[in-house]
Amino acid sequence: MGFHSVLTTAQRLVAERTPPGSTVIDATAGGGVDTLFLARTVGPGGRVYAFDVQEEALARTRARLQEAAARGSVAGALGEATLLHAGHEEMAALIPAELHGRIGAVMFNLGYLPGGPGGASPGDVPGPVITKPDTTLAALDAALRLLAPGGIATVVVYPGHEGGRDEAAAVDAWIALLPDETAQALLYRFPKRPASPYLYALEKK
Ligand SMILES: C[S@@+](CC[C@H](N)C(=O)[O-])C[C@H]1O[C@@H](n2cnc3c(N)ncnc32)[C@H](O)[C@@H]1O
Repeated sequence: MGFHSVLTTAQRLVAERTPPGSTVIDATAGGGVDTLFLARTVGPGGRVYAFDVQEEALARTRARLQEAAARGSVAGALGEATLLHAGHEEMAALIPAELHGRIGAVMFNLGYLPGGPGGASPGDVPGPVITKPDTTLAALDAALRLLAPGGIATVVVYPGHEGGRDEAAAVDAWIALLPDETAQALLYRFPKRPASPYLYALEKK
């Protein structure tokens, strides 16, 4: 049968802890898979803030949400989604102050948008837009400040692409220094596949 993928596991951990009506954040909207999952999880009365630096990613996310809404109640009604064309490192400034310390979940899926600009063929210049260590760590700091006690942050890390290994090392080091009193940390990884993505989950104390 095999174990669940890191992406499925991230969603399961979030779903278990996020009641309907919550306010949550997708830090890397990309193709909108997690944004739609979050919108379903929080349901009507809940809200998702989704960040991406690429307009194309936000357009894909918007289309995915619209398609799901048009399909109606088949898989449950959706919460409100606010799509922000901004870096996740700006989340503390862009999420309303009254929600700080009240966010139920923050999902990060690092790396690049599959099939996005610059990623279509090996010779493309300047290459796909990837998440970067400095902004990722700034966003992780902000996410922990925004989370409610008991809230969860999930971080899917991709060591396998160019630049990904440096970012993975930066995230590993950040987690290693995270005080135990701040959050409980979980690592979900397939050790026989060292280049495959892996998942950190943090439950804020
Ligand atoms: C692996 S994709 C995310 C996939 C997405 N979660 C999904 O479910 O389809 C990573 C995304 O991060 C975005 N990104 C890169 N740097 C960013 C930043 N500083 N802030 C927010 N998003 C960023 C990229 O544009 C890309 O769309």
